[in-house]
Amino acid sequence: MNDSAPIDYARYDRIRPIQWTGDALELLDQRKLPFVVEHVQCHSSDEVAEAIHALTVRGAPAIGIAAAWGVVLAARTVDAADGAQALLALEPALQRLNASRPTAVNLAWALARMRRALAAARSDWKQVAEREARAIADEDLAANHLMGTLGAGLIAAGSGVLTHCNTGSLATAGFGTALGVIRAGVAQRRIDRVFAGETRPWLQGARLTVWELQQDGIDATLIADSAAAHLMKTGVVQWVIVGADRICANGDTANKIGTYQLAIAARHHGVKVMVVAPSSTVDMATADGGQIEIEQRDPGELFGVGGSRTVAEGITAWNPVFDVTPGGLIDAIVTERGVIEHPDRESMAAAFAA
Ligand code: MRU
Repeated sequence: MNDSAPIDYARYDRIRPIQWTGDALELLDQRKLPFVVEHVQCHSSDEVAEAIHALTVRGAPAIGIAAAWGVVLAARTVDAADGAQALLALEPALQRLNASRPTAVNLAWALARMRRALAAARSDWKQVAEREARAIADEDLAANHLMGTLGAGLIAAGSGVLTHCNTGSLATAGFGTALGVIRAGVAQRRIDRVFAGETRPWLQGARLTVWELQQDGIDATLIADSAAAHLMKTGVVQWVIVGADRICANGDTANKIGTYQLAIAARHHGVKVMVVAPSSTVDMATADGGQIEIEQRDPGELFGVGGSRTVAEGITAWNPVFDVTPGGLIDAIVTERGVIEHPDRESMAAAFAA
């Protein structure tokens, strides 16, 4: 394939983490991958909230989509004449879904969108809710396809790339954000080598990303997170390509813990940094990264690997699971609305002002 031929999405997109069965939400259990491929069925919004909190479903766009379907499940327990009346009854469920994880703005964004659709809905409000949840998922997939092409267009032929966490089909409605750009870049023969960091402590890179790429027949080389700067020094990597959980009004970007140190090392070595995320990840109401709530998870996630304890009893650990990369360390933000090079307050406002 040459660098302008269309991408064969079916070849590069085989995994679906979230399926609506008609009466339940079926989630591919990401805690068990890659060795156990098992699905969990959620029959209530609280089961969805728990699945989001427990990382059964994870990745910023995916948790937004799951939460939207959670609202559809909550709607089944409510009798109301119209959407506005239904919203009053649904509000506690919406709030529990919203509280399931704090950092990725896609969750609050999807719930706000469900609220708006319901507020305007008449007696067919249950169907309206279902249509809106489906639209959120469909639009995410379409955005990923577009971002794949836009992001790949920035990459020179023969490049090596390093990614972090999991930003693929597993983290979205399909195809992925940063991993979508990598899929497109490989398909267009711009990317020759893909490296993925393990992403301690939950190992999204080691357990999910390299497994996802393997399904596509894309070779990826796994590295320890601590090998990244050394890898960059060898010159084989031209781009660090990552996703985002929240992009602020000045371009500061929250993403999986470790992204910030990758961006610092990248700048030192002349490697470029690309952030790929749908516009649902852009939060113009948050002025800068200092305002973002960083999720702290159980320190126990640091005490072992694969269920086996590796750390002595009685040790204290600190487990923030996201960090903020300043906009000044980002070379390009790619959304479905276009590419913003060297993001700052002005360029973000020009692209995303309401
Ligand atoms: O804790 P996780 O696995 O939900 O964190 C996910 C990430 O940080 C991803 O990089 C981000 O959400 C983008 S997913 C397309």
